[in-house]
Amino acid sequence: MSDAPASKCPFAAGGPADPRDPFRAAREQEGILRVRAEGEDLPLVLRLQDVRKTCKDWKTFSNDDPLMIVLHSEADVRSVRQLPIETDPPQHTAYRKLVEPLFRRPQQPDYLADLRAMVRDKVRDALAADEIEAVRGLALPLQSHGLTRLLGVPDAEAATWIGWGTHVYRDGDDPAAKGSVIDTYFHQAFARATDPEANDFFSFLNHVEFEGRRLTEEEKHGFAHMTFAGGRDTVINTLSSIVAYVAEHPDALAFLRADEERITTAAEEFVRFVSPVTAIARRCPHGGDLPGTQTPIPAGGRVALCWPSANRDTAVFKDADQVVLDRAPNPHVGFGFGAHNCLGQHQARALIRSLLHELCDQVSRIELVEAVPEIEEESSYRRQSGYAKLRVRFFS
Ligand code: HEM
Repeated sequence: MSDAPASKCPFAAGGPADPRDPFRAAREQEGILRVRAEGEDLPLVLRLQDVRKTCKDWKTFSNDDPLMIVLHSEADVRSVRQLPIETDPPQHTAYRKLVEPLFRRPQQPDYLADLRAMVRDKVRDALAADEIEAVRGLALPLQSHGLTRLLGVPDAEAATWIGWGTHVYRDGDDPAAKGSVIDTYFHQAFARATDPEANDFFSFLNHVEFEGRRLTEEEKHGFAHMTFAGGRDTVINTLSSIVAYVAEHPDALAFLRADEERITTAAEEFVRFVSPVTAIARRCPHGGDLPGTQTPIPAGGRVALCWPSANRDTAVFKDADQVVLDRAPNPHVGFGFGAHNCLGQHQARALIRSLLHELCDQVSRIELVEAVPEIEEESSYRRQSGYAKLRVRFFS
């Protein structure tokens, strides 16, 4: 959901009304915040150490909970369990090992060079235009073309994915219709992927041997759903927030140019600061107490890990409300923590760093024309996770 009024001060961070950190008071006082979801007032875990401990204790706080990994059930948009996320070890370990090599491709030099060339062209296009809308006109195309490289499919596929908008389920008025569009797309993509030697995501899943057998249709679709649901708005919100930040902080690019290492630290800092994933849930089949706060959870109850709150924990991060472009160390949990930490983090980092490099190389300043925050509304908080609209002008 998005806010109607335009804000020209998107990074007015740190005050009690900071729309990116509505968890501050609860984090400092109780360490949890209850939120209404699926008929339950479940606790969000707000402090960094508590989030880490909860992630580690997967026997108590389980991911084996199909369709429920986010706060609200996704039964209206998908019928398959997302893989590997909605499983626990040892099943999770085996599923993750199977696909991990695919997700590590962005660490290869030729991959990085190709990705950077794509980003270079898109920044050049933005400079050539009088004005762009940076969410749908820059960040969405960047991540769609980026994903074609991760998944090893033709670049032309990006056009279809751009048509889906920023989120495969939630961008649009009718989530069920969108769920069925991507189901149809996945069926066709798997049906086309008949070459056992081909190196793309769909062919790989069609032909790979898993525990002495081929993957079932449900498993293949589970991997595809996770990849497309997890790998789009997350990166898009981070990229567009970077554009907004540079527009609001005219000295930022000069600071980055002065030391190339700062591209790496800045990329991590934007993931910490933006933390585009607000909460991921766990189920407690046998009940238990939440680490740190000792909050009792009944058998069958749910809890949720609140990454953006943990990333603002002043017990860990000095000047937590500020973007510190050379922050080091930066033990953020923007990409999660423990067994389920983000499989797409190499791709996300590669793209974020490429954008920062190309902004440094090609752009002198960005002018903000209009910024409309993307706001998530829940029973106990409203949070800005990115931008619904970001009109800007790029100058060389
Ligand atoms: C800035 C971008 C991103 C952020 C902030 C992010 C955040 C996260 C977080 C917080 C988790 C942990 C979930 C948990 O513990 O339950 C996660 C897991 C995951 N992410 Fe990402 N993500 C990003 C990009 C991507 C991309 C680009 C992809 C794929 C193309 C992706 C695929 C996944 C997968 C498959 C998992 C599950 C891993 C597992 O269960 O072992 N993510 N992500």
